[in-house]
This record gives sequence, C-alpha cells and structure tokens, in this order.
Amino acid sequence: MTDDIDVTAHYESLKDRVVIITGGGQGIGRGYARHFARQGAIPVIAELNGENGENVKREIEEAGGTAYAFETDVGSMDSVSAMTEATLSATGRIDVLINNAAVFSRITMAPFWELPLDEWDSAMRVNVTGSFYCARAVVPAMQEAKWGRIVNVTSGTVALGSANYLHYITSKSAMLGMTRSMARELGPWNVTVNTFWPGIIKTEVPRPSAPDAVFEMFRDQQCLPRLTTIEDLAKPMLFLCSEEAKYMTGQIFEPDGGLSFN
Ligand SMILES: NC(=O)c1ccc[n+]([C@@H]2O[C@H](COP(=O)([O-])OP(=O)(O)OC[C@H]3O[C@@H](n4cnc5c(N)ncnc54)[C@H](O)[C@@H]3O)[C@@H](O)[C@H]2O)c1
Repeated sequence: MTDDIDVTAHYESLKDRVVIITGGGQGIGRGYARHFARQGAIPVIAELNGENGENVKREIEEAGGTAYAFETDVGSMDSVSAMTEATLSATGRIDVLINNAAVFSRITMAPFWELPLDEWDSAMRVNVTGSFYCARAVVPAMQEAKWGRIVNVTSGTVALGSANYLHYITSKSAMLGMTRSMARELGPWNVTVNTFWPGIIKTEVPRPSAPDAVFEMFRDQQCLPRLTTIEDLAKPMLFLCSEEAKYMTGQIFEPDGGLSFN
C-alpha cells in the first residue's frame, strides 16, 4: 500500500482480518480504518453517512488496500443485520467489531436540565443500543470461529465526570458495564471484549462545542503534555485487536497521554 501511515509497529496476525468499524466515515474511525488496512486487514465501514463511508473505502483502495462500506444505522437492528449479512457474504468472516459510532461531534453541551430531550434519546439509541445491536449481530460468526475482538469505544470523560454533556457521559458509562459483562459471557469462545478510551483529539471534523482552548486545557492536564494524534489512538487499537493482546479482556485501554486514571 502507498499512504502516509507509519508502520513501524506491524501485526502480522491482523492480515486478512475483517474489521467492522462503526462510524468509520470520518474522524477517529476513519483513522482506525486506514491503519487496519495498512496492516493488511479488511476494514468494513458501517457508517450512517453513506457518502463518507464510500470515500474512506475509496481512499483505502486507492492506497492499494481492500475495504467495504455499508451504509448503516447502528440504532436499527434491521440495518445492523443487513450490514453483517453483507459483510459475511462479501468476506465470509467477521473477526473484529469496533463500536466507534456515536452521537458526539455535533452534540449539544449544556447543563443537564437544559439538554434537548430528543438528544438524550438519540445518545442512548446510538451509543448504547447501537453497540449492543452490533455485538449481538457479530457474535454468531465469532463463536463459530472461536476467535473475536469486540472493542467498545467510550471516553475518559466518564472518569473525569466532565460537565455539560450528561447524555453522552451516561451513555459511555453504560458501555463500560456492557464491556465487562460481555467479556464474561464471550470468554469461553475466545472472544475478548474491551473498553477503549481515546484521548481528546482534534480531527478533520469541526466540533462546535470544542474551541482550540479546550484542547489546550486538556493537553496541559496530561502527564504527556502534547496534543493527541490519530496514530496515538490507532496503534494501541491495532495491538488490542491483534493476537498479542489475546489474554486481555474486560479491561479499560486508555491512550490519553495520562489525562485520567482508572
Ligand atoms: N474526538 C475525541 O476527542 C474523542 C475523545 C474520546 C472518545 N471519543 C469517541 O471516539 C469515537 C469517535 O469519535 P470522533 O471524534 O471520530 O466522532 P465523530 O462524531 O467525528 O464521528 C462519529 C461517526 O459516527 C457516525 N454515526 C453517528 N450516528 C451513527 C449511527 N446511528 N449509525 C452509524 N454511524 C453513526 C457519524 O456519522 C460519524 O461518522 C466516538 O465514540 C467518541 O465518543 C472521541
């Protein structure tokens, strides 16, 4: 492949793995997809914004990799089932699920008594129910293969108890318990389930609720006082989904420069 991704860390075990990345059409999910493709894995972009999903697929193919994109609403079981069926008919396997899609970059930040009620509902539907639907849909393929990785992307804001997005933090907290319980249930099939807390990162996507000063404030609270890069997040994600991380399950994985501690 030809792209600008640094492959100093190479995980042979990721080659040909089929990796569903929900919300992979932009931001961090797009970064994961490009890094997995660079390892010879096959990303499946399960994205609400079909055009963005296709763009990431094309970007990977133009660099010499293989990828699929299926327009998906993770908050609809029918849509999730269609996506997993399409993945299986295209590739014959599902090895990794990264529950990355979220109501996030356009979220309203306000005291909880002022949050729009419909936004509370959509945060729960996408972040919590959507992760459950996707896990439920991929589990039969992983159980049959006796191998699998499920990664639930949540947030260090759960540890910090950050103010002004209670709907987001409540939904991400629920995913923490979901991880632990799923890890216990799926262990006998050699399927690991972990929580991933990315550091705060400025992606190509504008975030009206986070001006530059917010990123600088968090940077200054980190043990490693520099801004997060996509590589800082994608490389630990590769490791977690590789064979090397096979004995880690039910854990919180926190590449955030030491912003918060568990
Ligand atoms: N950016 C950060 O600083 C940061 C920090 C901690 C955690 N996170 C988490 O990392 C993940 C990715 O963050 P990001 O910055 O790339 O967010 P983002 O808002 O840029 O991307 C989210 C993606 O999810 C998609 N999506 C939304 N609803 C969907 C649905 N119903 N079905 C399918 N796709 C849907 C969106 O279209 C979008 O492409 C999120 O789970 C977020 O909570 C981000």
